[in-house]
Amino acid sequence: MKLDDILNTDSKAAVSPSINAQSMLLDMRIKGQDQHYEIHIGDNALGQLQTLLKGRRCAIVSDDTVWALHGKTLCQALQLHPEAYEQIENWGQVHNETLCLSPTSNECLTPTSTECLSPTSILCQSSDTNFNKLLSISVLPNGEGSKNLEQLTRLYSDFVRAGLTRRDLVIAFGGGVIGDLAGYAAASWLRGVSFVQIPTSLLAMVDSSIGGKVAIDLPEGKNLVGAFHQPKAVLIHPQFLDTLPVRQLRDGIAEMVKAAMIRDEELLPMILNQFRDLPQNQSKDSPAKHNRSQPTQQISALPEINALLKRALSIKKNVVEADEKETGDRKLLNFGHTLGHAAESRGGYSALTHGEGVALGMQWITRLSEQKGLSEPGTSAYLESALAQLGFETAPPLDFPALKDWVLRDKKMTESGLEVILIRKPGEGYVYPIASKDVDAFFKVNTPDLI
Ligand SMILES: NC(=O)c1ccc[n+]([C@@H]2O[C@H](COP(=O)([O-])OP(=O)(O)OC[C@H]3O[C@@H](n4cnc5c(N)ncnc54)[C@H](O)[C@@H]3O)[C@@H](O)[C@H]2O)c1
Repeated sequence: MKLDDILNTDSKAAVSPSINAQSMLLDMRIKGQDQHYEIHIGDNALGQLQTLLKGRRCAIVSDDTVWALHGKTLCQALQLHPEAYEQIENWGQVHNETLCLSPTSNECLTPTSTECLSPTSILCQSSDTNFNKLLSISVLPNGEGSKNLEQLTRLYSDFVRAGLTRRDLVIAFGGGVIGDLAGYAAASWLRGVSFVQIPTSLLAMVDSSIGGKVAIDLPEGKNLVGAFHQPKAVLIHPQFLDTLPVRQLRDGIAEMVKAAMIRDEELLPMILNQFRDLPQNQSKDSPAKHNRSQPTQQISALPEINALLKRALSIKKNVVEADEKETGDRKLLNFGHTLGHAAESRGGYSALTHGEGVALGMQWITRLSEQKGLSEPGTSAYLESALAQLGFETAPPLDFPALKDWVLRDKKMTESGLEVILIRKPGEGYVYPIASKDVDAFFKVNTPDLI
């Protein structure tokens, strides 16, 4: 099919007949490992929690936005006693800051009590049947700024106070920030405890919640401290997307476009058909702040949403299964990320969202590679046309000198050079090594108007 035809196909024709929209389960098996885990997609996904919790207790980690919007749904899925549930609700609505349950009695404690955990944590008494198997709830400030050592230390303190053992479970309930941070806390706590990912942003649903990469940022760079720690399960409840602001929605769409470009050309028309008509982002000021008045979309009502999530996830699943530790094909998932991370980091993590950085990075690297004859002609225009239809800005000319320091700090940079991901044609990504001595020449912009 020609590129133009693909971009203009209608939704029904675009959905491959091989996709079973009813099917909501993916089984993740990492090569060479006995363990495997399930990814459940759909309205019943949260029902798996009871099975996962058999014989275990859990500590929930979330952020303030997600907890305020969806904590209730999670409590229902955990089948908490209505009284416990009321106490948790009151904590959010009345006290608005701190409430914890006494480990020695079942009373609510005031913020000044020494029994309290750090602000915005709840400690539950394990023998308190109202709380079933819930040990603690840690609610962190939302946004990338929380993916740091300070919040990690705070989680460890909560785990100490809650008495989290190796038999227990951490539940990461939020976007990619909570998934990465809670995942790293679980990976390092007692040399590793199990964790379940319940992603609530599109980016986390289609990308960050699977694959086992968990990390925190340092002031010197993103994701510099981390581990590979696969979750015990991933539960994807598409209704959470209905409250996601459109700017954050686009972050997930950028990762889906990335997946389509490296492995699955047919995915791109599906993405366009579902997301082409989204409104423009409302605010560029504060990506991390959830503006409750900002209109959101009924994403869970989109006709093909489960099939779309499943198909996008399948790409990451297949790549990670074959190459967990990123020695081969997993590198393809970094398409757009070297320049994208650099642009994101240069702005101090807050000016651009992760997805906006990736969208820029994909455009820059594909313009360069096409100019060098390393991509089929038209690949760059195809990508940029799709991104524009999805509401992304056309990338400005690449200012490599401004990003160079950040690119050289990239984790993919070694003494011998850098590996970048290029697109031969839509659906076909490949790894392209650049020797250290050639880095400047590779990124040198020959035709500023075009790059
Ligand atoms: N581990 C991996 O493989 C991997 C892959 C890609 C990205 N990441 C990481 O993921 C992070 C970005 O993830 P993100 O975009 O989800 O960021 P995020 O977790 O900060 O979420 C973005 C914003 O959306 C809010 N939010 C989340 N779900 C919501 C919902 N249902 N309704 C309303 N608001 C909601 C959050 O509170 C936050 O303010 C980055 O730190 C990035 O490095 C990790």
